[in-house]
Amino acid sequence: MEIIIRKTAEECAEFAAKIVENYLRINQRPVLGLATGSTPLRLYKILIQKNKEQAISFKKCVTFNLDEYVGLTSDHAQAYRHYMDTELFQHTDIQIENTHVPDGMAEDLRQECQRYETAIRNSGGIGLQILGIGSNAHIGFNEPMCSLSSRTWVKILSRETIRANARFFNSPEEVPKHCITMGIGTIMEAKHCIVLATGESKADAVVNMIEGPISANCPASILQMHPRTTIIVDEDAAKRLQNKSHYTWVEQNKLDWQQY
Ligand code: GLP
Repeated sequence: MEIIIRKTAEECAEFAAKIVENYLRINQRPVLGLATGSTPLRLYKILIQKNKEQAISFKKCVTFNLDEYVGLTSDHAQAYRHYMDTELFQHTDIQIENTHVPDGMAEDLRQECQRYETAIRNSGGIGLQILGIGSNAHIGFNEPMCSLSSRTWVKILSRETIRANARFFNSPEEVPKHCITMGIGTIMEAKHCIVLATGESKADAVVNMIEGPISANCPASILQMHPRTTIIVDEDAAKRLQNKSHYTWVEQNKLDWQQY
């Protein structure tokens, strides 16, 4: 794990944007894994701007989102398909047919999960996966006590996540209880993972993910086993880390070719 600590959420987004920019530039057929939630919004704004300035292009890019609620139509204001269309895709040169979000309205949800896994495999696999983290350390919608080797599947949201996400709905009762999410095993196959976490409400999840034991109780902790994960946190989210000075030391002493 590589830990990058920045003062503000904006600086974290800028750092993440640099990684995405380099990835898009270097790869002929980039396959990006994308996340929703409030954390990546700053990053998406920067990417839209870079695309407008023609510093980057999404024309050849294929995307796969981590998850989707079950039972929301794609035009529902809280559907992740709607979020992606309005927060990123519509403002870029991406070809919409190259963007993938699980279909939470599919008649056969199990078949949809398998279709999604196959589509990821057929694309050549995810090269760069952007992740947020829930305050209970979920990634995608893989909640505490989930299998650490699961594939894309239908999962039940924890009551904590329903409470946290209720802020986007009129009431907690409106939050779907089910979702389709890439499994932890699916996420772990991405070649490079970036986790963005900002704000004090993520401080516990962040310290458990980075410095805690690997445990299903903290799904994000499995990333300690991932060959290439970059965790980008602001000072509020980094607050409880014990080894902060070591992370800064490592960042300052990287060799040229280890930079982005
Ligand atoms: C949701 C998403 C996650 C996201 C998390 C954190 O439940 N399924 O992919 O990382 O919430 O969201 P936020 O960035 O709004 O804190």
